[in-house]
Amino acid sequence: RKRVFSGIQPTADSFHVGNYLGAIRQWVPLQETHDTVYCVVDLHAITVEQDPKLLRQRTRVAAAQLMAAGIDPGRSTLFVQSHVPEHAQLAWVLTCMTGFGEAGRMTQFKDKSGKQGSANTNVGLFTYPMLMAADVLLYNADEVPVGEDQRQHLELTRDLAQRFNGRYGAYFTVPDPYIIKATGKITDLQEPGAKMSKSASSPAGIIELLDDPKVSAKKIRSAVTDTEREIRYDEQNKAGISNLLSIYSALDGRTIAELETAYEGKGYGDLKKDLAEVFVDFVTPFRERTQAILAEPDKLDAVLAEGAAKARAIATRTLAEVYDRVGFLPAA
Ligand code: TYM
Repeated sequence: RKRVFSGIQPTADSFHVGNYLGAIRQWVPLQETHDTVYCVVDLHAITVEQDPKLLRQRTRVAAAQLMAAGIDPGRSTLFVQSHVPEHAQLAWVLTCMTGFGEAGRMTQFKDKSGKQGSANTNVGLFTYPMLMAADVLLYNADEVPVGEDQRQHLELTRDLAQRFNGRYGAYFTVPDPYIIKATGKITDLQEPGAKMSKSASSPAGIIELLDDPKVSAKKIRSAVTDTEREIRYDEQNKAGISNLLSIYSALDGRTIAELETAYEGKGYGDLKKDLAEVFVDFVTPFRERTQAILAEPDKLDAVLAEGAAKARAIATRTLAEVYDRVGFLPAA
C-alpha cells in the first residue's frame, strides 16, 4: 500500500469548512486504499503565540473532530506531532539543507510576516516549511492531501527530498501533492476573492464546524454574491456564487452542472437557503460525534498515545537512517 501523510494545526476552537472540504474530507476515503498517517501539528501551532491551556484543549478538540469526520484510529495512525520528537530532529537536518533565499520565497511566510510586522515574526515562522517537510519525509509518504495553499510548501518538500537523495544516496520518497481542484480553495463568504482562513477571515466570512448551526446557516444566507441573477459557476466574475456552488456540490453529491440546471430560473436566496439546510444536516451529527468523543478525554488521550507509538516506530527508523547518512557518530 502506498502511504499518505497529512497534518492540521490546532490553532482555533473549530475547523472551518475550508479545512474540511479542502483536506479532511479527502483523508477519510484514502483510508480504504492507502496506509494513512494523520497528525495534529502542535509544533507548527506555536509559530504564533498560543495560550498553553487553550493549546492543550484545542489539540484534543482537533483530534476529536478528525475522528468525528471519519478518521478511524484503528485504520489510520492518528497522533499529535509533539509526541514524536523525531519531527523536530529531522526538521533540523532539513533546515541545514535549505537556502535562506529559498525559504524567503515562501508566500505564506511573506504574507504572515508582512501582516504581523517584523517585531512579531519569530524564526519558527520562517523555518515552518522545513518542519512540514520533516513531517512528510519521516514517513516516506507518497501522497499528501491538502488544500491549494500548501502546494508551495510541498514543492519545497520535494526539492529537499531530492537534494537529500542526491547528496546522501536515494532514500526519501519524493511525495506528490493530492489537491482536489473543486474544493482546493474555499473562499471567504464575505470576501469571495480571498481564501477562507482561521487567521485572516472575519467571523461572518468563515463557517466553523463546531459553531451553532443556526449561526452558520445565517452566515451562508448572508454570503456576498453579485448583482446578476443567474446561478452559474464562473470563478472570475461570480466568485461568491461559484464558492457556494462548490461547497454545495461537495456536501450534497450533485455536480455543479446538475446544480446549475436544478436552479435555473431560481434566485440566489433559494440557493443560499437550500445550502444552509444541507450544511446544517451535515454538521449536526458531526458536532454530536465530536462532543461524544470529547466527553471521554482519557479514552481520547489513550487513542492518541497509541497513535504516537505507531508513528514513532516508523519515525525512529527513518531518523536513524538519516543520522547515519549525514555522518553523525552513533551513541553506542
Ligand atoms: P492548516 O492547519 O492551515 O489547514 C489544514 C488543511 O486545510 C486546508 N485549508 C483549506 N483548503 C481549502 N480551502 C481553504 N480555504 C483552506 N484553508 C485551509 C489546508 O491546505 C490544509 O490542508 N502547514 C499545514 C499543516 C501541516 C501539514 C504538514 C500538511 C503541517 N505539516 C504535513 C500536510 C503535510 C497547515 O498549516 O494547514
